[in-house]
Amino acid sequence: MKEQKYEFNYKIFNDSSELDSEDAELLKKARTVTEEAYAPYSKFHVAAAAKLANGKIVTGTNQENASYPVGICAERSLLATAASNYPGISIETIAVTYKNMREPSNSDHPVSPCGMCRQALQEYETRTNQPIRLILSGMEGKIYVIEKSSQLLPLGFNSGELL
Ligand code: THU
Repeated sequence: MKEQKYEFNYKIFNDSSELDSEDAELLKKARTVTEEAYAPYSKFHVAAAAKLANGKIVTGTNQENASYPVGICAERSLLATAASNYPGISIETIAVTYKNMREPSNSDHPVSPCGMCRQALQEYETRTNQPIRLILSGMEGKIYVIEKSSQLLPLGFNSGELL
């Protein structure tokens, strides 16, 4: 028997003033785009903004549905937009944020992608052969920066298994 350890490092910033200007700008964009979320059921607006390798910025928001499972998360909405509009172009960084519209509530700490989005992010890294950096936050407060999104999916299932 052998025991294996899995760990990864990530950075914690106190607020966006500690980020470099490009990251701060991307996060600002994501925070603005929370307005575009369609989340009448959860009232939890999620937004993502990505910087692509060609310099373009792409955004995505959660889009819910009265038939709940039909809804899509902000991260996968972003990935579909990026792949459809800029096929083959890799994603360098995605900023993910949220605005909880329930009362009382706050949006002052990072949230991280759900399991389904982690799987989708892993696939995007594989197909474009580039790690995707994540900036995770709320509308204010601490920010996590993770160098490679697939670090959030240890022992993940991937296409290599299907060969
Ligand atoms: N949501 C996202 O958009 N991204 C995540 O990573 C977590 C959850 C959305 C799905 C749903 O519309 C709402 O947040 C509440 O779960």
